[in-house]
Amino acid sequence: MGLRITQTAYYVPPKVVTNDDLSQLMDTSDAWIKSRTRIEQRHVSTGEQTSDLSLQVAQKLLAESGWTADSLDFIIVATMSPDYLTPATAAIVQGQIGATKAMAFDINAACSGFIYALVQANHLLQGSYQRGMVIGAETLSKLVDWHERSTAVLFGDGAGGVLVESSPNPQVGILAEDLRAFGQDQQYLTAGYQPVQNIFMSSKPAGNPYFAMDGRRVYYFATHEVPNSVQRALKKAPLTGEQVDWWLLHQANGRIVEAIANHLHQPQERFLTNVASYGNTSAASIPILLAETVAQEKLQRGQRVVLSGFGGGLTVGSVVLTY
Ligand code: ACO
Repeated sequence: MGLRITQTAYYVPPKVVTNDDLSQLMDTSDAWIKSRTRIEQRHVSTGEQTSDLSLQVAQKLLAESGWTADSLDFIIVATMSPDYLTPATAAIVQGQIGATKAMAFDINAACSGFIYALVQANHLLQGSYQRGMVIGAETLSKLVDWHERSTAVLFGDGAGGVLVESSPNPQVGILAEDLRAFGQDQQYLTAGYQPVQNIFMSSKPAGNPYFAMDGRRVYYFATHEVPNSVQRALKKAPLTGEQVDWWLLHQANGRIVEAIANHLHQPQERFLTNVASYGNTSAASIPILLAETVAQEKLQRGQRVVLSGFGGGLTVGSVVLTY
């Protein structure tokens, strides 16, 4: 059984914040941001929650595929910025679209979240499940300290997703996967700390609710562990880098993508990027890029793709798939 991606869609909130807009709010510049990250603008929610962005994607997926909501067996939302700790964002979407037969749960593996979710979907489809929806959605703007220039310029809000179904053709879908976690390095990228606070405590606990990041450590991690992860997945497939048509990596920073392409000795033009338009949208970045690539008719049926995410945890996740 293979996992067939039958439909892709994305949605971003309408408000655009350019680098020049940010330079009015903090001591930064378009030149600094572009040269360090390749980011030119990001979309920021002015009220839509993560479940609202997810719902937009879910409705587009259903409208464009013709699938009915009650034909779905599962909904998975990958997010590190859910509306609530409970209910899960996926459950909110499930209720709103009326997917009465679907189970629903969230996955948090930060910027690797969509890949982790896609792999779980693949395993469900190997079992008794036939059809599912996998969404990556984030409102990172609520986790950003907008006075902290070293992180504020990097992130954006958005959502993307896919419909998947089990296919009898074993040549279609995920040929190999590689998921890893590096929890010993978790302190290099944190956001949304929620310390215990209750009536039995005399003092209010300290804690940073916003992004805190050792940028250089994360940069080093990404440029080393993504090539390692991709190479493990390619070896399992088994394929060589030359047999891959398109590389769609997490869009954290254009320089990271360029460095990974060099590390893997593969041509830059096959590494697709849209970080200039959206910034880093964590779990949403790969499905947004995938949906754009399909809409632009760059990605054709039968082509081989590497998807790879990396980020908080620290985590990394890669899949090699035939689209
Ligand atoms: N504008 C202007 N100057 C800035 C800004 C800014 N927005 N931010 C930092 N600077 C300054 C610093 O203060 C520093 O000044 P100093 O030399 O006087 O001390 C200088 O610029 C250089 O700062 P560095 O941090 O060394 O810059 P670097 O070249 O490493 O780039 C960056 C920083 C872009 C964050 C880079 O390290 C990076 O991309 N790291 C990876 C980050 C990442 O991908 N994170 C997301 C992971 S995904 C997830 O799970 C959410």
